[in-house]
Amino acid sequence: MTQWQKSGWRAKPRVQMPDYTDPEALHAVEARLSKYPPLVFAGEARRLKAHLGQAARGEAFLLQGGDCAESFEQFSADGIRDTFKVMLQMAMVLTFGAKVPVIKVGRMAGQFAKPRSAPTEVIDGQELPSYRGDIINELAFTPEARIPDPQKMLQAYTQAAATLNLLRAFSTGGYANVDQVHRWTLGFIEGDKADRYREMAERISDTLGFMRAAGVTRDTAHTLQAVEFYTSHEGLLLEYEEALTRLDSTSGDWLAGSGHMIWIGDRTRQPDGAHVEFCSGVLNPIGLKCGPSMTSDDLKALMAKLNPENEEGKLTLIARFGAGNVGEHLPRLIRTVQEEGANVTWVCDPMHGNTIKSSSGFKTRPFDSVLREVRDFFGVHAAEGTVPGGVHFEMTGQDVTECTGGIYAVSDEDLSDRYHTACDPRLNASQSLELAFLVAEELSDRHRKEAARDAG
Ligand code: PEP
Ligand code: CO
Repeated sequence: MTQWQKSGWRAKPRVQMPDYTDPEALHAVEARLSKYPPLVFAGEARRLKAHLGQAARGEAFLLQGGDCAESFEQFSADGIRDTFKVMLQMAMVLTFGAKVPVIKVGRMAGQFAKPRSAPTEVIDGQELPSYRGDIINELAFTPEARIPDPQKMLQAYTQAAATLNLLRAFSTGGYANVDQVHRWTLGFIEGDKADRYREMAERISDTLGFMRAAGVTRDTAHTLQAVEFYTSHEGLLLEYEEALTRLDSTSGDWLAGSGHMIWIGDRTRQPDGAHVEFCSGVLNPIGLKCGPSMTSDDLKALMAKLNPENEEGKLTLIARFGAGNVGEHLPRLIRTVQEEGANVTWVCDPMHGNTIKSSSGFKTRPFDSVLREVRDFFGVHAAEGTVPGGVHFEMTGQDVTECTGGIYAVSDEDLSDRYHTACDPRLNASQSLELAFLVAEELSDRHRKEAARDAG
């Protein structure tokens, strides 16, 4: 077998990537990016991999979330802070339900490039190339805006570096201490409509009170005020990924330096394609989106390529079938994994199979479909005796109106109020937290049943 090279993907068929029109400008950008520091370090990626291995065994639980597409225009400290904050709240509630540590991974600091269902878009009879994310072209519907511009990679790198810098500061600077995070959550359950979540929130308060009384304080337990927070994005724009790939001198392995975890989208997972080739050679944990068209043979080929050593935590399978379709697809793929004796971490993305067009014309996702897909995912794992290792959401800390439903019900008519996403509809802060409570209930029910079975 020939040795993997970071440029090896160039010899493979590629889909969903832009055709840059000025090769010199592209090369100049690639040359610059190759000299920039990596955004993440090999030891961090390995640590995340170890945590994901724990999630595969039910000893940890993954919470992965953030924007569908990060935006240059909406980039702000408040935006980062609010998403970070709601993820911490969700993680705390999930920790309480799952009774295991929650691994926090943002779709942040690099989630810029988007695969699209059609190469062009038609508005009022005018046809233009599709928007492919701010790292590639612009959302504005003009011919100039839609030309792919390699310079945008430099802006994406700068924004990712600044985002990560703030996330690292929030993670260790005291902002993340448990009492503070819980106080925010108590704010959420104040309204009448949040009644049904009050009991669990109060149990969390009691637990924190007990810990304080027992002498577990912020001073004695550093982990109560600092968190580990990782970044992830779809490794779609391979020129950018290659330019940030670095040799880890201690191990001789290659690191994708653009983020801790890289995933392969449902549209770019061809076993012999460019994206799989690139991801097969880096040491980072790799995510693989699994939609309804994933066959058993595809999955076998992909597991062999992406995790040839069958390492724990290396490969996360992100199921995204759509509410109502989980029973048809997940059991067959779980069995394929078992037949191969493969180590994988199963995670549920209940967003991408549940996108619909609302009566008001907006792309949306009903909260109930999102919840139903998560429940179906847990149900199938319970029936198969396998481990549901985590959840993956498109969400924001902002009060947007992009997904319908939730206790502060967003209706079809409300969607136009604050619809800000550059791509897919996201859960807003309260929908995200509500979902965390509901998932935590599922997880703690499972616990109770298991405990009862073990006792009986
Ligand atoms: C995404 O995660 O934003 C995405 C495009 O997902 P998928 O590849 O599963 O459609
Ligand atoms: Co999306």
